[in-house]
Amino acid sequence: MTDVLTPVLTADWGTPESWKLNVYEAAGGYGALKKALGMAPDDIITAVKDSGLRGRGGAGFPTGMKWSFIPQDASTEAGGKPKYLVVNADESEPGTCKDIPLMMATPHTLVEGVIISSYAIRANTAFIYIRGEVLHVIRRVQAAVSEAYLAGHLGKNIHGSGYDLDVVVHAGAGAYICGEETALLEGLEGRRGQPRLRPPFPAVAGLYASPTVINNVESIASVPSIIGNGAAWFSSMGTEKSKGFGIFSLSGHVNVPGQYEAPLGITLRQLIDLAGGIRTGAGGQQMGLKFWTPGGSSTPILTQAHLDVPLDFEGVGEAGSMLGTRALQIFDETTCVVRAVLRWTEFYKHESCGKCTPCREGTWWLTQTLTRLENGEGSAEDLDLLLDQCDNILGRSFCALGDGATSPITSSIQYFRDEYLAHLEHGGCPFDPMASTAFATVGANQ
Ligand SMILES: Cc1cc2nc3c(=O)[nH]c(=O)nc-3n(C[C@H](O)[C@H](O)[C@H](O)COP(=O)(O)O)c2cc1C
Ligand code: SF4
Repeated sequence: MTDVLTPVLTADWGTPESWKLNVYEAAGGYGALKKALGMAPDDIITAVKDSGLRGRGGAGFPTGMKWSFIPQDASTEAGGKPKYLVVNADESEPGTCKDIPLMMATPHTLVEGVIISSYAIRANTAFIYIRGEVLHVIRRVQAAVSEAYLAGHLGKNIHGSGYDLDVVVHAGAGAYICGEETALLEGLEGRRGQPRLRPPFPAVAGLYASPTVINNVESIASVPSIIGNGAAWFSSMGTEKSKGFGIFSLSGHVNVPGQYEAPLGITLRQLIDLAGGIRTGAGGQQMGLKFWTPGGSSTPILTQAHLDVPLDFEGVGEAGSMLGTRALQIFDETTCVVRAVLRWTEFYKHESCGKCTPCREGTWWLTQTLTRLENGEGSAEDLDLLLDQCDNILGRSFCALGDGATSPITSSIQYFRDEYLAHLEHGGCPFDPMASTAFATVGANQ
């Protein structure tokens, strides 16, 4: 068993009633807030910059740099525009499942992070936008915010500092596109969730046309530990350009799926070891890894050949994929890759917001062609057609949802072309999910 875990955000998830304020405070919670209120806001931004924290919502943009784009001109009292912090808690990417457990287990880590981050960018109102379907999470975060108000961590003149902050917990209506930051802002303003044209970027004209920082739950929840322990502590973990720790979510065909918090740069081989290995088959035989996503279904799939790729932004990029949200979906050799890709593509077709033609029409065409292949009804030319359809979506869509829809398709054809062709040869899916070696002759062609 590899001993490389660095539990920080997840350290207290097993503590009884870890979501309550008194339990959080007993473990040192809100200590970083006291420290932060004694610092100048710009020094907090500098500390977050120095820590090397990069956004945990997928793209990996440096968090401190994003904060420094907020114009710090006139205060609201002096006629300046208000500044806003918006926490992106939409978490709808297939496979991504870290923010919701974090908000359920220790919502005060997020609330404390919201207060420190808002203070740093001089915002007096912050929003936590939570995906609408997870009512239990919304209630838990609302309860934590209420507790924080009662304790004087929120509201007017927080702990005599002269700083005021209100936090609004907003329930979305359940659309994947509302995780895209500008569609999220449209939703917050009461409109249909569709992405906005950039520029202007949210840091200049975001919520209500005011300067706005949008950050992922895990990014903001990491801030108290950085302020409490120092930037050097955080940057001592991870790799040269991908600092710190992150929550790696292992799901699918491993014996112990779950959240594994570790320094960036850990490998899938180590994580599978921590997760008790690939599951055993129905007949008790040991299964092998077939393919996996490094960061959710929008990131190109990888194979066994990539077990030792360092899971940081650079390493996964060099391997031809993206670190994304560290949503590691593990598929063993019983999985039909064509069927898995078709399921994901159906998701993108359903979630396409319809604003731009390449994605709205293209995702529909992708499902048509893929269904034909999965049913063994097409021809080998359909593979070229599929790649051509992807080519017409990638880089031509209005937002990254369209690009993401092509990732599983192009990468699966790259590694498993033979398996697509086998569907045609067999006149349908030749895969018997009950038999472990049905695809012994149709492995990854990496
Ligand atoms: C279709 C789509 C869905 C997204 N969903 C989420 C999400 O659920 N949560 C999230 O934090 N970021 C999501 N993002 C990324 C956000 O647009 C944005 O980059 C992120 O919230 C920035 O936070 P960070 O800098 O802390 O990573 C999504 C992007 C796209 C294109
Ligand atoms: S790429 Fe898809 S989700 Fe994004 S704007 Fe176009 S139609 Fe909407």
